[in-house]
Amino acid sequence: MRKVENQALVIFGASGDLTYRKLIPAVFDLYMNGSLPEGYAVLGVSRSAFSDTQFRKKMKEGIKQFAHYKKAGTQKMNEFLSKVFYLGIDTGKGEEYLHVTEKLHELNKKLNLGQNYIFYLSTPPSLYTLIPKFLYGQGLTLQQKGFRRIIIEKPFGHDHASAIELNRLLLDFFQEDQIYRIDHYLGKETVQNLMVTRFANGIYEPLWNRNYIQHVEITAAESIGVEDRGGYYDHAGALRDMIQNHLLQVVSLVAMEPPSKITPEDIRYEKMKVFRSLRPFSESDLKKNIIRGQYTEATVRGKPYNSYRDEANVDKNSRTETYAAMKIFIDNWRWQGVPFYIRTGKRLPTHVSEVVIHFKPSPQKLFKSADESAHSDNQLILRIQPDEGILLKTGMKVPGSSYEVKSVNMDFHYSELSDHYIPSAYERLILDCMVGDNMLYMQGEAAEETWKFVQPILDYWEKDEEAPLHGYPSGSWGPDKADDLIEGKENTWRYPCKNLADDGVYCEL
Ligand code: BG6
Repeated sequence: MRKVENQALVIFGASGDLTYRKLIPAVFDLYMNGSLPEGYAVLGVSRSAFSDTQFRKKMKEGIKQFAHYKKAGTQKMNEFLSKVFYLGIDTGKGEEYLHVTEKLHELNKKLNLGQNYIFYLSTPPSLYTLIPKFLYGQGLTLQQKGFRRIIIEKPFGHDHASAIELNRLLLDFFQEDQIYRIDHYLGKETVQNLMVTRFANGIYEPLWNRNYIQHVEITAAESIGVEDRGGYYDHAGALRDMIQNHLLQVVSLVAMEPPSKITPEDIRYEKMKVFRSLRPFSESDLKKNIIRGQYTEATVRGKPYNSYRDEANVDKNSRTETYAAMKIFIDNWRWQGVPFYIRTGKRLPTHVSEVVIHFKPSPQKLFKSADESAHSDNQLILRIQPDEGILLKTGMKVPGSSYEVKSVNMDFHYSELSDHYIPSAYERLILDCMVGDNMLYMQGEAAEETWKFVQPILDYWEKDEEAPLHGYPSGSWGPDKADDLIEGKENTWRYPCKNLADDGVYCEL
């Protein structure tokens, strides 16, 4: 087990949803697993007026709803919450940070925190440069006595220029190795397993290239709409919200070369090479290889759903995309000519994220197929969520006197691997930061490079009034147009369902 020093986690934006739903439940699960050190404190900071007791009460509700150990019982929860504190300040005002220093000083004395502090920024992005500056003003970013680290939530920038600017400003107050840019996809056990599947198994490596792979498909589908996040989402859209960060990170893990060692430097180096090899979009690619959509109202199984434009805090004429699909290429030796198809959307029929490796068909069609796909397409499906697992689709002989081939599934479900639950991404990432391991966090240049890649799309959508925005009914798999992206008339997107082996079936919305 990695050694965790005594320390405090200071959460800015503590009255927000993320703290309640994800951060505190994750820290509580760490506590239940015995991962927290003896000397530990959580200090929530935000503008709202809470007493410690009120804050603890709210956090307890979050734990009861969202923690893995939600049924841990009052005694355990109260034990944990006795080390959770709250400080209400105007986070936009530098002079108020004296209270942060004083509070940390007090907690440090009381709980022996070793002056080790992690500052977690879960605030509106407008505070991402102010808070570091004010912490610096208090001398809280200097690592003289204990360590000082800062975790920055997404969105890391709004476009390429702002990501560069944010990196530049952060580096005025923190060193690069103190900065932890979070992308919660990297904390998912199954996303980490992409690397293990590739590099712990000899059988995949010889096949993992342009000679044997026809194309790669990466999907992150969600059945929910924008819920109560319309205000944020309407200025972001699917490209910024999911593709620039989460899905390009997944692309890099699927496409990277084997690192020479499993160290943060070696892995980040290999991933960076993938980002640098992404083929820039030409003007015609922008028109041909990218589809955006927005959900419209529909009734699904008797239940009515709003259109995106009718969601709270969304512009009635909004042209923000809630769906995006694209064909991209990686210009290096391994992947030359292999299309990577990426798609994400809200209000699709189900919640699923997966990577599908489509292998080239056998060179000759010797046998008769009961099912055409049996012959043409071996697929390796790496299911990120839910029902985490791996599925290999392979052609097999149908029992009987003839040589008829049928596609069958060899499938593995993570749930069969151990009794231990799969830790949440936040649990894993917070623990990593606590021990100073930044392997699963994004380095500054990766954030900039991925923004650089998507910037022409943002510009095209913003500046060209002719750039199409396709409506798609809530509960469908997105605009029909997206089907045209896939090369080869026999190929389509995979339409996954919850059950790994039960594809092609429309699921819950
Ligand atoms: C977040 C996005 O980063 O990821 C959300 O802001 C999205 O809009 C979420 O719903 C998806 O995460 P997950 O883990 O459910 O795939």
